[in-house]
Amino acid sequence: MRDTIRFLRAGKVVEIADFAPMTTLLDYLRLSERASGTKEGCGEGDCGACTVALGRVRDGVLTYEPVNACILLLGQVDGADVVTVEDLADGTALHPVQQAMVDTHASQCGFCTPGFVMSLFTLHHAGFAPGRADVTEWIAGNLCRCTGYRPIIDAALASCTGTASDRFAREEENTRALLDFISDERDVFLGDDDSFFAAPASIDALAALYARHPDATLVGGATDVGLWINKQLRTLPKIIWLGRVTGLDRVEVGESGVLIGAAATFATAEAVMARLDPDVGEVWRRIGSKQVRSSGTVGGNIANGSPIGDTPPLLIALGATLELRKGDDARVMPLEDYFLGYGKQDRGKGEFVSGVFVPWLEDAHAFRAYKISKRFDQDISSVLAAFRLTLEGSVIVEARVAFGGMAATPKRATATEAALVGADLGRAVTWAPALAALAQDFQPISDMRASAAYRQETAKALLGKALAEVAGSPTTRTRVRGIREGQGGGYGRVA
Ligand SMILES: Cc1cc2nc3c(=O)[nH]c(=O)nc-3n(C[C@H](O)[C@H](O)[C@H](O)COP(=O)(O)OP(=O)(O)OC[C@H]3O[C@@H](n4cnc5c(N)ncnc54)[C@H](O)[C@@H]3O)c2cc1C
Ligand code: FES
Ligand code: FES
Repeated sequence: MRDTIRFLRAGKVVEIADFAPMTTLLDYLRLSERASGTKEGCGEGDCGACTVALGRVRDGVLTYEPVNACILLLGQVDGADVVTVEDLADGTALHPVQQAMVDTHASQCGFCTPGFVMSLFTLHHAGFAPGRADVTEWIAGNLCRCTGYRPIIDAALASCTGTASDRFAREEENTRALLDFISDERDVFLGDDDSFFAAPASIDALAALYARHPDATLVGGATDVGLWINKQLRTLPKIIWLGRVTGLDRVEVGESGVLIGAAATFATAEAVMARLDPDVGEVWRRIGSKQVRSSGTVGGNIANGSPIGDTPPLLIALGATLELRKGDDARVMPLEDYFLGYGKQDRGKGEFVSGVFVPWLEDAHAFRAYKISKRFDQDISSVLAAFRLTLEGSVIVEARVAFGGMAATPKRATATEAALVGADLGRAVTWAPALAALAQDFQPISDMRASAAYRQETAKALLGKALAEVAGSPTTRTRVRGIREGQGGGYGRVA
């Protein structure tokens, strides 16, 4: 057992034995270290002013990922190299991304600038030469209200060329040695039975600890929990972070499908999910921002039971099964059965989500998924629709249809599924019963994201769009952007 957390700061090991479990990384940096270069804007993961980089060795590669320090707990940096804007300059020489920001006049008030610089620092280390679209995706989680994005994008293109050319690249060997030195397989526990930050190192240790403290708060990436702390001012005395549990972050590709550990981040699972289907990849890419995807976990997205989480409808339509663990007992269920009602899930006291298994699509499957939100990037869905149609020729013989944002939980559209069976893609007139059945399946509510009428109409339009696309309508007529470009014109799976 270790009763400290350990991480790197500017090439030195920092070890902390005593901190309040809910302390955020941002508060630690600004209030304890007095490293006030990292700014606080929204305090809820939206603006990126608090972006810092975390370096960890992933699959043998030292990788720097951007995270929002305002909603990350201090304990979550255990084992990482924490890089802030203060660390970038090399003596009197600015870091290449800082110099490029100066050269392209990319900062005015500068409140957003440290966050942009840190996002670009991670892009500088990403190992590829980005184009304009890559840059805009990379900085979608950073807001600037003064300068405007063009000069910032120019700075990125000038300074991120595929090969890192900074002190961090030169000192990589030393950093890796230090990261290796601070990593161990001991359970971490700071505090006492009434108030603690714990980070078990194995699934058995996690199961035992959570069974002893079923009232503890499990934390995956804290992209929800961080907001409970900052915005709802909740007190969470007992925190169990899942980020050190060996194997819980695995993304295992097998013959029959993909097994995603509950603590796998969106970022870790992104490439494999895109292999399942281009639409899965596209929805995945639009979850939050780079920062949110670097921290947020698939397990957290399912376990929180949100009716507007993006992965549950996708995974339900794909036929995923959920794995849960309590003490020594494990159980598996179809993912849709986990969601019982608003805020109510089929999860017992002391039980946790351990993983989700997603089967590959088969040749007879056609899959489509669409996320509708007010903004393209960094926004929660108003409606998310996912469809898996099993085809024999042009006829649908089975359908799995799931929606988010249409009910109190992510939910299958069972009446619509039944009405789709027998529909002929070649004869649009046969689609009508399914389009009408959606009204039987859902009576959505109005809220700040969308009205009930908008949701109902949109759901119908998305089903029509999926059927039209699978029937062969060119995607140039159904999509704003180039996903699935050149596809269409045939029945069955077009991947
Ligand atoms: C700026 C911003 C943008 C966002 N955009 C999106 C978006 O586009 N789409 C979307 O779907 N979501 C979005 N979210 C919400 C959030 O990022 C996701 O729901 C994320 O998946 C939560 O995962 P986490 O690991 O951070 O969860 P945490 O905050 O760590 O936990 C969330 C809940 O799940 C519980 N929990 C976590 N892991 C487990 C487990 N293994 N077993 C049991 N319980 C567990 C926790 O106790 C807590 O109740 C956004 C959030 C922010 C801040
Ligand atoms: S302060 Fe806005 S994302 Fe952290
Ligand atoms: S320079 Fe002021 S917000 Fe970006």
